[in-house]
Amino acid sequence: RIAGPCALVFFGVSGDLSRKKLLPAVYDLANRGLLPPGFGLVGVARRDYTDAQFAEIVKQDVRENARTPFREETWKQLVTGIRFVWGDFDDEGTFKRLRSTLDELDNRQGADGNHAFYLSVPPRMFEVVVDQLEKFGMVDQSQGWKRVVIEKPFGHDLASAKDLYRAVSKAFPPESVFRIDHYLGKETVQNLLALRFANQMFEPIWNNNYVGHVQITMAEDIGIGGRAGYYDGIGAARDVIQNHLLQLMALTAMEEPNSFEANQISIEKQKILAAATTPRNLDIHTARGQYAEGWQGGQLVPGYLQEKGIPADSHTETYAAIRVDLGTRRWAGVPFYLRAAKRMPRRVTEVALVFKRAPHLPFTNTETSELGTNALVMRIQPNEGVSMHFGAKAPATAMEIRQVSMDFAYADSFNESIPEAYERLILDVLLGEPPLFPRQEEVELSWQLLDPVLQHWAEQGPPEQYASGTWGPNSGIDMLKHDGFTWRRP
Ligand code: BG6
Repeated sequence: RIAGPCALVFFGVSGDLSRKKLLPAVYDLANRGLLPPGFGLVGVARRDYTDAQFAEIVKQDVRENARTPFREETWKQLVTGIRFVWGDFDDEGTFKRLRSTLDELDNRQGADGNHAFYLSVPPRMFEVVVDQLEKFGMVDQSQGWKRVVIEKPFGHDLASAKDLYRAVSKAFPPESVFRIDHYLGKETVQNLLALRFANQMFEPIWNNNYVGHVQITMAEDIGIGGRAGYYDGIGAARDVIQNHLLQLMALTAMEEPNSFEANQISIEKQKILAAATTPRNLDIHTARGQYAEGWQGGQLVPGYLQEKGIPADSHTETYAAIRVDLGTRRWAGVPFYLRAAKRMPRRVTEVALVFKRAPHLPFTNTETSELGTNALVMRIQPNEGVSMHFGAKAPATAMEIRQVSMDFAYADSFNESIPEAYERLILDVLLGEPPLFPRQEEVELSWQLLDPVLQHWAEQGPPEQYASGTWGPNSGIDMLKHDGFTWRRP
């Protein structure tokens, strides 16, 4: 699958995401031979760079962050199509310059009028950029395809998500809008579907007859770093539950799609999101927290409120946990617990199916409280893989049962390295392959679920503090204890 002739335009190319992930991902694609000869790469930002200066910056980012080794040959080829357009997004001059740059790439590099516009800019700028593209005749689908790529957050709540989409869809038809949720680009997330639907042994137990509850955890050890401007006022629920975690939930819970065609996958995900509710008593069944100073990795790290650029009275949560119930025949009675947090003891994302206990335990020796707890854990990252946890008889005991695990690790089973999620997603945009991009309907259903929780939290006082380097606030622990469960310690 090699992309055909085209040009990719990055708005906001001087931002962190572009420099650390997007530009290196483009290089990796080139290095793997997946980009067409003459591929155009255009950066747009409020900097005064020449094409050559911009190319040097790209080169530096590639050297620092690309997954594949630096090869002069690849670079020489890529650099022939690198251009830079300087200017503000509300300045018409910027778009006139962009237009002539794209014309030049079409004629000289053979981009053939196929252009993807990647908006790596704050959502409030989406409309401004889209309007200008339209005004300067850059969204005309009659000569080559035109696609727009937008990054989360897809709005702040349901109403703003709808507004945002309205602004984008003035110029781009639905099939030309690609929403990036980079979790869907991760190999391990796609493997959820392979595990479930390419095998016979998991699906029969993948339901409320056997599964007691599901835990979806996205723990990060980092704090907010230099992202105060983005993160404050957004918080963990909007940042990652609304998108990454609800998508993981949908993929875990959905029925088998008729095919892996985008429409079919989305239909199944939508059914789950539409069947999802949070329990009525949000005080008990949700939790939020904010990291305080604490020890992490042998270092004393500052609390959220001490981070640069954070107001001293900020109520933004850095830990969010919610319980979701699914009103479907397969999942009725099986709570899904979603938690996302920063400054946890370690970085780990996993989906864990925790099974019910065996209906009868004919053992007298119940030394371990874990006796009979089975779990199937999909490790999204790091140490990508899948493990099964179950009890086994400890040798040289009468009948003592201990927890053991059976493990599949990508690193042991595959020679291929795992590509960066953005590589796959950018390639899919250029190929016009939509299955890994959430639809607007999914975005809206996710907000519909989350809005009441966010509203409830907004009416409460400040979030509970938790020490950095711990597994979060007491309310998070209590939330599961209330239902008779405990969080896994991944
Ligand atoms: C982003 C969030 O979507 O995902 C960040 O905005 C978070 O806050 C990041 O750090 C984590 O991504 P990954 O791929 O490292 O799990």
